[in-house]
Amino acid sequence: MLLRLVAALLLLIPASIASAQQPVAWKTGLEAREIERKVDALIGKMTLEEKVGQLHLSGRGEGFDINQVRSGDMGAVMNFVVPAEVLAVQKAVRESRLKIPLIIGLDAVHGFSTYFPLPLGQASSWNPELIEQAAYWTGREASAAGINWTFAPMVDISRDPRWGRALEGAGEDAYLGSVVATARTRGYQRGGVATTPKHFVGYGAVEAGRDYNATWIPTSQLFDLHLPPFKASFETGAMTAMAAFTALNGVPTTAHRGMLTDLLRGRWGFRGFVTSDFGSITELRLHGIARDDAEAARKALLAGIDMDMMSDVYHKHLANEVRVGRVPVKAVDEAVRRVLRVKFHLGLFEKPDVDPATAPSLMQTEAAREVALQAAREGAILLKNADETLPIRDTVKSVAVIGAMAVPEDERVWTDPAGLGRRVITPLPDALRERLPKDVSVSYQPAFTKNCGTAFADKKAAIHAAAASDLIVTMLGEDCEFIGEAASRTKLELPGVQQELLEALVKTGKPVVLVLATARPLILTWASEHVAAILQIFHGGTEGRTAIADILTGRYNPSGRVPMSFPRSVGQIPVYYSQLPSGRPEKPGERYASIFMDERNEPLYPFGYGLSYSRFTYANPRVSASSVRLDGSVEVAVDVTNTGTRDGQEVVQLYIRQPVASLSRPLRELKGFEKVMIRAGETKTVRFKLEASRLGAHDEQGRYVVDPGEVEIYIGGSSRAAAKAQVMLIRS
Ligand code: BGC
Repeated sequence: MLLRLVAALLLLIPASIASAQQPVAWKTGLEAREIERKVDALIGKMTLEEKVGQLHLSGRGEGFDINQVRSGDMGAVMNFVVPAEVLAVQKAVRESRLKIPLIIGLDAVHGFSTYFPLPLGQASSWNPELIEQAAYWTGREASAAGINWTFAPMVDISRDPRWGRALEGAGEDAYLGSVVATARTRGYQRGGVATTPKHFVGYGAVEAGRDYNATWIPTSQLFDLHLPPFKASFETGAMTAMAAFTALNGVPTTAHRGMLTDLLRGRWGFRGFVTSDFGSITELRLHGIARDDAEAARKALLAGIDMDMMSDVYHKHLANEVRVGRVPVKAVDEAVRRVLRVKFHLGLFEKPDVDPATAPSLMQTEAAREVALQAAREGAILLKNADETLPIRDTVKSVAVIGAMAVPEDERVWTDPAGLGRRVITPLPDALRERLPKDVSVSYQPAFTKNCGTAFADKKAAIHAAAASDLIVTMLGEDCEFIGEAASRTKLELPGVQQELLEALVKTGKPVVLVLATARPLILTWASEHVAAILQIFHGGTEGRTAIADILTGRYNPSGRVPMSFPRSVGQIPVYYSQLPSGRPEKPGERYASIFMDERNEPLYPFGYGLSYSRFTYANPRVSASSVRLDGSVEVAVDVTNTGTRDGQEVVQLYIRQPVASLSRPLRELKGFEKVMIRAGETKTVRFKLEASRLGAHDEQGRYVVDPGEVEIYIGGSSRAAAKAQVMLIRS
């Protein structure tokens, strides 16, 4: 329905406007060969300084020197978002000798003008088509403003909610992460911007979740957990990549030749270019592997970093490093080749300049907002719903909405631009009023001075309003400095004075619906025991609050699922579903078992979990054959029934376990999922194709091994799926 609506709206966009944003993709065959010839010819004409210029990426703001664009000393820019300013740099480059177009980059992380839920919230929808649509509209809006390159998707896997950047990823799982990486890469590039899967590689494994900290990742885990989403993104056509800030097993990835050159270009055949992260080349000095910027530049380039983002050290030192013979000019040529190749494949040499007059009309179109609304609805996870508190019952005649987050000033948590087009965000109380019967009163009290919830404004008034209502809806969570890069936390409680408020609300004796907008799974142990219902949102974006109101009032039946386990306490971290077995598993009464003395083992809300207003049951899990060859595949089917009274979407998940293999294998591994709409009372058969080649794992030498033997298959609505089938893997 949604997709039909989007397609219909697309037809209404004038052809001239629609053609301004072309999908981008690697060209093939003759066209690709022709590009190689053009690149060679262009490199042949370039001075050493012009070559180095192509590797220099500088950003809008203090220190930006447009004369470097005019002189051909800058090949890429970032953070230009106002079309008239983009046009100015595009014009400036045409004053340069070779007029090589700029690649213009931006972190369009979860939207450009229309904001979609944070990437973790998009992943919570477990709906790849919808996620692709969100990336598509982000790409279209960004490219309408003249941007042709985005520093997204972030495909880092993280099992550590202490890490503030978990919000930019798809959670804890390699398979879900890869599906989301594919969807986002395809969507952005269809929308007209080149993508940058980042951060290559391992950033999500920073020790203790402390940002920029070291990462220690065994080879098997690197290949089975962290690399798959990157591979998926490159296989979908990603044209660039970004190296991580971090050191991987002692080698800063910005100087990691094994990863950037041997693996990425050698084994994987990647033909695009790699950019450093912001200032990370000069940071090689602080990592302790370069004495000065010249050495840092040399090490980064020779390892495989083609573009220097914001360190300014290629620009300052690379030409001299070549002249004195420390860097072969061939290495510079190769980096330039990769940058120019991407520029040609992107069609930048033919592309018209941005049109500041038409750009605003392409922002926040009805079609984009419709996708934003659906993404926010499907990304919301109903974690608890005691006694069917939700949807709001007919007997409720007054609702108190409490918490400043319910009425936002903005829904912006990244460096995305403001000021283009309208940015209308409906406050939650208004959205509820529109949806509830006229005789239901909705009051609102911010309780806090700001969204962040760090200080009270009028606590008394909030409690008073809450106590006088039939139902309390409180919107709490993380905002302000608690979100994003460098926002690592050791305490994953509600920030500031929010817990105090929540406890006071519960004390009124009225049922409390907790709507949580956070950047990561928080510790919800207290809340899970005391509030009536919990709806988890990873900041819903422009349509976030309308989506919440749709769910609270039953206009939309929630269907989001947990992408990252919710711990019971910080001490459990990392806690994730795909644990390896232990030789001493938990056993009732056993003291010397793999357990905590003061906490349970399992998370509060496991991976894949989420409630609906419907109920689903699983029956007849079955396989099309009892054995399958290592190069074969098997069909797995299950009957899913909606036994509830409302139509609803279920995320049918398939997990495997190989109980005996040459390596100890996880207790569960996600290998497939499908989101299906099932009408009340209806039964649907859901089928999966399971290729034996996908059931293996990497060993410590990085070799991929698929072992013959029994494979257990579990299908259900979370990682605790109970319906079971099995198949035997056999040698041919
Ligand atoms: C982040 C990157 C981002 C870059 C440019 C860095 O601090 O790590 O993910 O793309 O800034 O904004």
